[in-house]
Amino acid sequence: MDYKNLEVKTSKGIIILTINREKALNALNNQTMEELKDFFSKVAPRRKKAKGIIITGAGEKSFVAGADIKEFLALKNDGARKLSQRGQDIFFMIERFPKPVIAAVNGFALGGGCELAMACHMRVASEKARFGQPEVNLGIIPGYGGTQRLIQLIGKSKATELMMTGDMIGAAEAKELGLVNHVVEHGASVKKAKEIIEKIASKAPVAIAKVVECVNAHFDETQDGFAVEVDLFEACAETEDFKEGATAFVERRAANFTGN
Ligand code: CAA
Repeated sequence: MDYKNLEVKTSKGIIILTINREKALNALNNQTMEELKDFFSKVAPRRKKAKGIIITGAGEKSFVAGADIKEFLALKNDGARKLSQRGQDIFFMIERFPKPVIAAVNGFALGGGCELAMACHMRVASEKARFGQPEVNLGIIPGYGGTQRLIQLIGKSKATELMMTGDMIGAAEAKELGLVNHVVEHGASVKKAKEIIEKIASKAPVAIAKVVECVNAHFDETQDGFAVEVDLFEACAETEDFKEGATAFVERRAANFTGN
């Protein structure tokens, strides 16, 4: 699929995915969602050597200002249901991706934009970033997993307040609440995200993938996270990388992990 609104670049093994609709503050229109779906279902899983993915927004002002409101007026019949379900499905692909996916939030992360950032494994925010779920201003609620992930990240009390008031919060408050991992100076969020991915790339890839699975199991009511941990601990212990990691420790040298 040719992408119109997604720019995919690779820098030293790290994929940088830029939502590129700057004039619309990178709002997620139908075309962009289809491109994200294509990328995470077809392109990214084939990039076996990639160290991880950074998602960011084009320009200085916005990460993603939400779903494209201008397209809402054309929604008919079960269009809203399908829109929400597709968004959730795509964002689950991001959340379950076996390599680190980090949102580099360079500005507004509102509505579907905040939801996109929350579906990533971590968030690095520019000091100018603004977060919010302003859907109630439009007569709707967050539809791309935001009602659930915001509670997971910052707790019921504050999440309910943000979703009911539609208030925006700045980067410092987002950090205080646990919504973002790091706040950096404006323009440095991709750099910081790269540093985190580089560090993770020195670890055993299977173990990293299993961390993702265990974390997600915690929030999956159909799974017992502790039981999943036992299974995946065993799976890690069966890898060559476990032998290498333990041997390297004993031999007082750096481990050379292969992903096997
Ligand atoms: N959808 C479509 N277009 C959008 C947009 C969106 N979510 N957000 C901004 N734009 C467009 C504006 O319409 C404007 O385009 P035009 O010049 O063609 O009119 C352009 O981007 C610049 O925006 P503003 O002039 O409004 O810029 P501003 O600096 O004055 O305000 C803002 C910035 C506070 C982010 C404001 O644009 C805004 O409130 N945007 C909407 C945010 C929002 O409500 N997001 C939630 C969407 S619903 C959703 O996401 C549902 C879901 O969970 C799936």
